Amino acid sequence: MGVETIPFYGNRSVRKTTWFFIFLAIAMMLATDALGVHEKVGCADCLDQLASQVPHIRQIHPDMPESALCLACHDALRDTSGQHPPYVLNGPVDLAGGSFSATLLTDGNGHNIQVEDAALGLTPPGGDPRVEMDCLSCHDPNNNGNFRNLKTEINGIPTPVRALADPNYRNNVYISGMSQFCGACHEKFYGDYNTRGANGWVRHPVGINVSTATNADFNGWVSAANKVTQAELPSGDPANPTGARVFCLTCHRAHATSYSDAMRWDYGNGAGGCLECHTFQR
Ligand code: HEC
Ligand code: HEC
Ligand code: HEC
Ligand code: HEC
Ligand code: HEC
Repeated sequence: MGVETIPFYGNRSVRKTTWFFIFLAIAMMLATDALGVHEKVGCADCLDQLASQVPHIRQIHPDMPESALCLACHDALRDTSGQHPPYVLNGPVDLAGGSFSATLLTDGNGHNIQVEDAALGLTPPGGDPRVEMDCLSCHDPNNNGNFRNLKTEINGIPTPVRALADPNYRNNVYISGMSQFCGACHEKFYGDYNTRGANGWVRHPVGINVSTATNADFNGWVSAANKVTQAELPSGDPANPTGARVFCLTCHRAHATSYSDAMRWDYGNGAGGCLECHTFQR
């Protein structure tokens, strides 16, 4: 009889405890969010949003816990906030970071945020395995002064990113720091490492000034119409591309795309983007 008075912590209580911590986390997150981006978003908005999304949240893999909070607004199919946040999933247009939509159907199109990548798991190619991988692996929940609230430090490596942010989230001007940011997880694809992938070449040099490089056609790149590639502009002045440097987002988008490896164009079917800098006419 005495034994039966010992409280039984079944699934339901465990779940309640989990919920308590999730709610506490959001409350704390938003309470400190006084200024800057997310300033229009209040605690009540976020909690209401979450409460209405319970069935969806359960589908998210346990290694991706925070994605549920963020997708409550940033997934166009879940959002009922009325605040028109930029959509990173199921949106009507792909924003600068691309779109996570493809990763729900196929792995290999970029960063998975809802289900684990079957081939890569939580291991970044060129880097060390992670314990979790979700929105808060790359972003802080509130304004930290960094471009798009990107984390200012990852794996002990400082990751300040400077850019002129397009209010429509499409055409940003990248000034500095993005390659270091990617390299904080994909260490061997950045810096002095000289790795070549098992399936052939995967690493292109970054941080190189296109206008002074011998083996790149700067004028060809500048004059190419409807370019798919992009370069970092340390001057911050799109009218003056001198000094433009190759960086990770020359060829990739940050979140995911409908192409393999979050590429900006269908690299599997053509070197189009490469030819914008490597013309064969000289
Ligand atoms: C209640 C709805 C809501 C939730 C929940 C929410 N966001 Fe947002 N988010 C917005 C809105 C609205 C904007 C655009 C206006 C603004 O920046 O305040 C935005 C903007 C952003 C931006 C762009 C900021 C910039 O520099 O312009 C990022 C990045 C972002 N959110 C990430 C997140 C992450 C990560 C989470 C989860 C921790 C999250 N959001 C949760 C509504 C939300
Ligand atoms: C917080 C760590 C982290 C950061 C920062 C990061 N990545 Fe990743 N990346 C990962 C992990 C983990 C994987 C493997 C799991 C996956 O694909 O979802 C991955 C996979 C990839 C892949 C392969 C995708 C696939 O589906 O095969 C590409 C390409 C990539 N990252 C590019 C980038 C670029 C470009 C940046 C900078 C904008 C970046 N990463 C920043 C952790 C990170
Ligand atoms: C691998 C790191 C990484 C992960 C994971 C990640 N982001 Fe981002 N996010 C970025 C970077 C880098 C940018 C800036 C992209 C650019 O300007 O090209 C960005 C941009 C954004 C923006 C601005 C819109 C845009 O496309 O530029 C929003 C909103 C956002 N992220 C929300 C989220 C949410 C919500 C999640 C989780 C579902 C998430 N991010 C996961 C790195 C990441
Ligand atoms: C000039 C173009 C270019 C630049 C710049 C570039 N990449 Fe890539 N990256 C590629 C191509 C092409 C592939 C292979 C794509 C494929 O076969 O689907 C690739 C593949 C990858 C992969 C997947 C590798 C694997 O084994 O699955 C990761 C991760 C990656 N790049 C990260 C980065 C990071 C981080 C940077 C910046 C330090 C960067 N890339 C800069 C073109 C580029
Ligand atoms: C924005 C311009 C730009 C784009 C786009 C670009 N490259 Fe490059 N690439 C460069 C520059 C700059 C160098 C350095 C050349 C030099 O030092 O003379 C370079 C160097 C190279 C090298 C020599 C690498 C080495 O280790 O020395 C190869 C190979 C190469 N690129 C292939 C590619 C491929 C393949 C693509 C498409 C996936 C591509 N590039 C896209 C600018 C670009």
